[in-house]
Amino acid sequence: MRKKLEYLFEKKSKAMKGGGEQRIEKQHNMGKLTARERIEVLTDPGSFIENNFFVEHRTNDFGMGKKKFEGDGVITGFGKINGRPVAVYAQDFTVLGGSLGEMHGRKIASLMDLAIQNRVPIIGLNDSGGARIQEGIKSLASYGDIFYRNTIASGVVPQISVIMGPCAGGAVYSPAITDFVFMVDNSSYMFVTGPQVIKTVTKEDVTFDELGGAEVHSNVSGVSHFVYDDDERALKGVRELLSFLPQNNKDFPPIAEYDFSSEENEEISELREIVPVNPNKPYDMKDVINKIVDQGYFYEVQKHYASNIIVGLGRVAGISVGIVANNPLSYAGTIDVLASLKASRFIRFCDSFNIPLITLVDVPGFLPGKDQEHQGIIKHGAKLLYAYSEATVPKLTVILRKAYGGAYIVMSSKHLGADAVLAWPTAEIAVMGPEGAINIIFRKEIAAAEDQEAERKRLIEVYKEKFANPYMPASLGYVDEVIDPAKTRSSLIKYLEYTITKKQERPWKKHGNLPL
Ligand code: HXC
Repeated sequence: MRKKLEYLFEKKSKAMKGGGEQRIEKQHNMGKLTARERIEVLTDPGSFIENNFFVEHRTNDFGMGKKKFEGDGVITGFGKINGRPVAVYAQDFTVLGGSLGEMHGRKIASLMDLAIQNRVPIIGLNDSGGARIQEGIKSLASYGDIFYRNTIASGVVPQISVIMGPCAGGAVYSPAITDFVFMVDNSSYMFVTGPQVIKTVTKEDVTFDELGGAEVHSNVSGVSHFVYDDDERALKGVRELLSFLPQNNKDFPPIAEYDFSSEENEEISELREIVPVNPNKPYDMKDVINKIVDQGYFYEVQKHYASNIIVGLGRVAGISVGIVANNPLSYAGTIDVLASLKASRFIRFCDSFNIPLITLVDVPGFLPGKDQEHQGIIKHGAKLLYAYSEATVPKLTVILRKAYGGAYIVMSSKHLGADAVLAWPTAEIAVMGPEGAINIIFRKEIAAAEDQEAERKRLIEVYKEKFANPYMPASLGYVDEVIDPAKTRSSLIKYLEYTITKKQERPWKKHGNLPL
């Protein structure tokens, strides 16, 4: 027995060392944690249990089989985050560059199967040179197995990818299917074709960072949702994100303790001052959001991308909510292609995982221009309409100022199934803004006037009073309540309390056909 135990300990200790001391040191010198250290930071202390510990690669192609690595370059298993189970895999760059071969991929796929069956979130810590070249088609097959499971798991359990090193070639497509992609600044990058291939094909010189670094994917491509300065902060970010989410699509997000009665009728007077009197003056919608969410804590998603729309998670009276808001500070809060894509995906995530949606509206319209039309604002804007319409979670809307035309409809209006629409007295809900409107409907009157400017000003006031206000839509039942801005948070708490039990069934279908 003793001998057998000794053999076991020896094998275990070998596996714990991954690709060896030297490679671990190289990893540390690059400012990166090892796969095991990452799992320790990510999961609650002592909670991680590893499966398929002794799996090895089994190919002898190109003589690679001479050296065996227990674990085959990936650690898979279950642990807990904030006391709730999660499935985790962490690629070990010290073993064959974390490259994905047959058994490596099989370990990940089998973990995903268990996670789907047990309905627990899946977290992938990616640090890999991509398909293991020596294993050829078997590596590609393993990638396929993972993509397939990512798709099956989508909308069933939350899936989170953390990119903590290279993520090259087809390897990027698993993270792309998952719900959220975290990146670590200066040490992670993602691309389909690398700099060498680009140089050969297009003669273009480009660095890893310029091509697919964290900044590029958070500011330009929108592939990444969160960027952190180092491994530890990124992993803590994942813990933070999970605190807002349920375990699966049949579960509800955890409810933080909150004393409702303490602020049932509370007024937040600063909210009366945030929106400028001049309707064309910008302001930062984040100031409004911070006043609405518990402890002013808002976990923003895709902070640096399409800043004309804000999306993110917060809590209202302890309940996790997804917030979608136009931001007049950027492009006057207009909706463009990127804003549509960003918001639609977030809305669909919240809807999949029973997270109520709060929409804050101040939108002058869709961004006009040839550029937008050519980029397909028609089909992309339609995604936003589609996402709101199909969502069956509680949908609460607050119109702060402008809500014009198609953009009024798209921003979670009653017509797309909002459960409650509240408006501030400053709300202007109409087909278009006063200036544009009077030039069309009062064209003759203005032309005939002696003082055209004075007449224009007078007619703008007439139009505002008649059309661009919240009372006319309220008289038609499109707005439920016109509220004092100071009571926005307390009103939302009340409406949340009444809608949180919402159950809405849709007619059966295999799946819809979102305009892609
Ligand atoms: C096998 C690999 C490997 C790979 C790296 N290694 N990538 N082994 N298959 N894909 C090994 C190296 O041989 C080396 O082994 C160790 O990992 C560390 O690699 P280094 O090159 O020394 O590290 P570094 O300088 O940090 O460079 C990392 C890297 C580079 C940028 C990732 O290794 C690289 O460019 N790798 C190839 C990337 C790639 O083109 N992948 C295939 C993409 S195609 P030793 O023994 O020396 O430590 C793809 C298709 C998937 O993924 C399609 C799915 C649909």
